Amino acid sequence: MEAAQADTVIAPSLLAADFARLAEAAESVAGAVDWLHVDVMDNHFVPNLTLGPPVVKSLKAATDVPLDCHLMIEDPERWALGYAELGAHNVTFHAEASADPATLAKRLRSAGAKAGLAIDRDTPVEDYLDLLPEFDTLLIMTIKAGFGGQAFMPELLDKVRTARRHAKAGHLELRIEVDGGIAEDTIARAAEAGADAFVAGTAVYGADDPAEACRRLRSLADAAR
Ligand code: DX5
Ligand code: ZN
Repeated sequence: MEAAQADTVIAPSLLAADFARLAEAAESVAGAVDWLHVDVMDNHFVPNLTLGPPVVKSLKAATDVPLDCHLMIEDPERWALGYAELGAHNVTFHAEASADPATLAKRLRSAGAKAGLAIDRDTPVEDYLDLLPEFDTLLIMTIKAGFGGQAFMPELLDKVRTARRHAKAGHLELRIEVDGGIAEDTIARAAEAGADAFVAGTAVYGADDPAEACRRLRSLADAAR
């Protein structure tokens, strides 16, 4: 029997929010979203620098919305587990940065988190298909990781199609998350390709009413899936 289709996940990215008011940014979308996407950047894996464990700890105390930590960092073997221990719902690290993704995924799951694998713009997904049973989430970048506000790259959706086909054939329960340039004019294409979790920074926190922006994104995704 085919597994029932998973519900759409909408995950606003706090990267586009006011960093002096992160709790308010979380509050402004609570009730309209499933996860809060937290972009951790270390100025090494990507040129940008954002936040780390102390901020995630404070966010965890400030909101009940599950935290979706996207680690754009080197040496995730050293750091990722700490995010699981802080209570992150989902901890996603980059395939390009990890020496042994399957082992790290097992450790994250043992620590009580969902394990996520992220694939950046220039990385083929084929190399990682065999590892997917170890993961709950596959994050396909639809831009080059590092900065918000970049233009969506529709050609990267081929990776979503490949991964979704593979997951279906293997009866894997896999969330496929897209990140980068997701907005009202792009989310349907990503949903049609097989994504079921959608990160949106600028499209949410750049809107006058962030919660309403999330509701509109969800209905567009639901209609396309
Ligand atoms: C960038 C981050 C994204 C970013 C997306 O590397 O991973 O989560 O916030 O921003 P938008 O939605 O503005 O493209
Ligand atoms: Zn992200």
